Parts: sequence; C-alpha cells; structure tokens
Amino acid sequence: MDQLTMKKMAAEAALQYVKADSIVGVGSGSTVNCFIEALATIKDKIKGAVTASKASEKLLKEQGIEVFSTNDVSSLDIYVDGADEINPQKMMIKGGGAALTREKIVAALAKTFICIVDSSKQVDVLGSTFALPIEVIPMARSQVARKLVALGGSPEYREGVITDNGNVILDIYNFKIMNPVEMEKELNNIAGVVTNGIFALRGADIIIVGTPNGAKIIK
Ligand code: A5P
Repeated sequence: MDQLTMKKMAAEAALQYVKADSIVGVGSGSTVNCFIEALATIKDKIKGAVTASKASEKLLKEQGIEVFSTNDVSSLDIYVDGADEINPQKMMIKGGGAALTREKIVAALAKTFICIVDSSKQVDVLGSTFALPIEVIPMARSQVARKLVALGGSPEYREGVITDNGNVILDIYNFKIMNPVEMEKELNNIAGVVTNGIFALRGADIIIVGTPNGAKIIK
C-alpha cells in the first residue's frame, strides 16, 4: 500500500474525535492536508479551525472552513497534526515543513493532541531517521550552529527557507535523542533559538497510524 493511502486512512480516522460546534486545531504537512479534505466533509458540523501555518490556512479557507486566530480562542478540544518521527512514548520530531513554532503554539492550546502518521514515522529513538529542525533568528544562525556542533550534532542551514515568522531553519543531522525532554529544554535555552522540533514536553495523547491493515489507534 502506498504512503499517501496510509496518510489518508489516518486522517479520516481522526474525524471521530471532532466534536460538534467546536473549533478544531489543525497542524500542517501532507498528512494534515488529507485531514483538511476529510474535515471539509463535516464542515457544517464545526465552528471552524485554528491553524499552524499559512499553507493550511489557505487550504482550510479554500474548503470553506472558517479560520480563527489563536488569540481568539482560550483552548481547543483537539489538535490534529502529523510528525516526522514519533516514538512509543508519543514524543515527536516535527518541523519538516518549517512550521514547528506555530505548531507548538497551537498544540499548547489543545486538551488532546492527535498525531496522524503513516507507519514509516514510527521509531524507537528520535533522530534515527530524520534530522532535527531548529527555528533560529537569522542573526544568530552561525553562533547557534557552533553550539549545536558542541552538543554533538551536524547542523545544516536549510537554504532558501524562511519560516512564517521570518526566521531560518537549521537541521541537525546525526543527532540521536536519548532524553527528548531534557534535550528539548536544553536547545530552547540557546540564545537565538526560537523553537526546536522536539515535541516531548507536550507530546501527543493519541497516535493514529495508517498501516496496510487499516488505521491503528494508540492511546
Ligand atoms: C511541519 O512543520 C511538520 O511538523 C509536519 O507535521 C511534519 O513534517 C509531517 O509532515 P507530513 O505529514 O508531510 O509527513
């Protein structure tokens, strides 16, 4: 079975958690794009969405779903987003699409974080297959990169990418993350780092994995 079909299965299974008349938190990426399509089929049952990227905002609006500002909501029942990697403790690496900071902000508003992935995203140790993205203030890029090297990583500047917040991305290669909670805090303490792509302090609550045998829900 191809990856897109598995992403769609996970996305469609997430609809069962959408409450009537609610504002739904929506992340970004190709799996979330499948979720937005699915959400459009029940758009008359919800109030609208709050979203983590300009790309998702555009797609939601094209589907006729009203988009609210994060400043207009005090909490969300659910936040639905993909991940680049997820471990058995439901901690993730995110930011492959450079939307990590806004994703963390919207995730922080949600009572339940539902992570939708295909089975290729499941790993035992974060950093095994995917580089860790870090959003950095442009003037701090070189000094942050030096600190990341000192921590044992191999940072690479993601050429040509400017985030929705006007910053740049460094991707750390060869960086197995043995203690995600501590590493998330440590990286956030480097001057010039806006956010890092470890989602461990606030991980997912439910994982929905698209597999060749259907959508598997892990609580
Ligand atoms: C966006 O910045 C990311 O955090 C995405 O959630 C993540 O990269 C997953 O994307 P796909 O669903 O496209 O694999």
